[in-house]
Amino acid sequence: MTSDLDAAATALDATDPLRRFRDEFVGSESSLVYFDGNSLGRPPRASVERLGRFAREEWGGRLIRGWDESWMQLPFAIGDEIGRVAIGAAPGQTVIGDSTTVLLYKLVRAAFDAQHAADSARVEIVVDRDNFPTDRYLVDGIARERGGRVRWIDVDLSAGVTAEALRDAVGPETAVVLLSHVAYRSGYLADAAELTRIAHDAGALIVWDLCHSAGSVPVLADEWGFDVAIGCTYKYLNGGPGSPAFAYVATNLQDRLVQPIQGWMGTADVFAMGPSYTPAEGMRRFLSGTPPIVGMLAMQDTLEMIRDAGIAAIREKSIALTTFAVEVSDELLGPLGVTVASPRDAAFRGGHVTLSHPTMRAVTARLWADDVIPDYRDPDGLRIGLSPLSTSFIEVLDGLRAVADAINAESGPHPR
Ligand SMILES: Cc1ncc(COP(=O)(O)O)c(C=O)c1O
Repeated sequence: MTSDLDAAATALDATDPLRRFRDEFVGSESSLVYFDGNSLGRPPRASVERLGRFAREEWGGRLIRGWDESWMQLPFAIGDEIGRVAIGAAPGQTVIGDSTTVLLYKLVRAAFDAQHAADSARVEIVVDRDNFPTDRYLVDGIARERGGRVRWIDVDLSAGVTAEALRDAVGPETAVVLLSHVAYRSGYLADAAELTRIAHDAGALIVWDLCHSAGSVPVLADEWGFDVAIGCTYKYLNGGPGSPAFAYVATNLQDRLVQPIQGWMGTADVFAMGPSYTPAEGMRRFLSGTPPIVGMLAMQDTLEMIRDAGIAAIREKSIALTTFAVEVSDELLGPLGVTVASPRDAAFRGGHVTLSHPTMRAVTARLWADDVIPDYRDPDGLRIGLSPLSTSFIEVLDGLRAVADAINAESGPHPR
């Protein structure tokens, strides 16, 4: 049986149309198994070059002239490129800003304020109990700050927010809905078009967290009628540790939203340095302070790869990877008591798969020590992130064999 799996992995790699991209990443030549590209993507080789060149030539050579020459426009130029290649947004609606958490805070609060000002009955922010912690915490804080309240949606930890669940939660008191497109724990892929329609039918605005989908799952922000979306750039966009997030705000909404961190970079004429804050037109109003230029360099190399590969082909490979991971898990790990805590239907699954077993916390520590790098999520989940451009099928098989070994070692008789 084992040799069948080897043959399958080898055949899948041999026929993978995106196979060449793996070589574009630092470390892909080593035997380390990386299952955490959905948390921190590997660095593109081109980014190592780009970062060095930037320090030498732009920062070192142009010094402060760099701001006028290109850096001031970089958050908008890269934002537009993310819009074009990854999230289906026409230009002028996407910008690189602060961290994901800060951008989410600024825009959920701006959306809440706009809705509440238009209709004082709209006091609720709807969010699910299994959304990423930052999303839940900041919604709770905004509700307290603004005299609103949170309406929680209960979800199955192996799945996510369904149309039915959202329909039950929204109504004339809903101001804003905040949902993740791909659930961080289960990998559940929400029907973003349908959920957006449901929020709009209730008169609410919807904010999408695209952290686990941008760069791995097709997103059609304009076509699906998104209001606001925020996404990480250090996961499938390989921007590096702490690289700044992007924000999308639909054109028709931009002048209705006023965000709360009124810094000089968000004003119409940044260098006028006038007596008071007037929000700029367009996406600039969602910036606050000096853009983190160094942090937005590396993601440009992945955006080039995404443009080259096409997001549809990336999604196809992502489905093939997660499907193979589920098959291997069923065969090698199922007999050890492991269950799949992600949707089995690929149409409802993003780029990662969570595998449950009571030993997974200890198993993760063993795996890390052996250069097999997944991550662990409570209550007992091993999260296998399969970044489509940098992961091979053999890597999936090698990694899951190591998981089987680690479970056996953990579950076996312990020396007294
Ligand atoms: C789904 C989701 N939302 C929000 C965040 C928070 O991002 P940051 O720590 O960059 O603010 C993360 C981070 O991993 C995430 O996975």
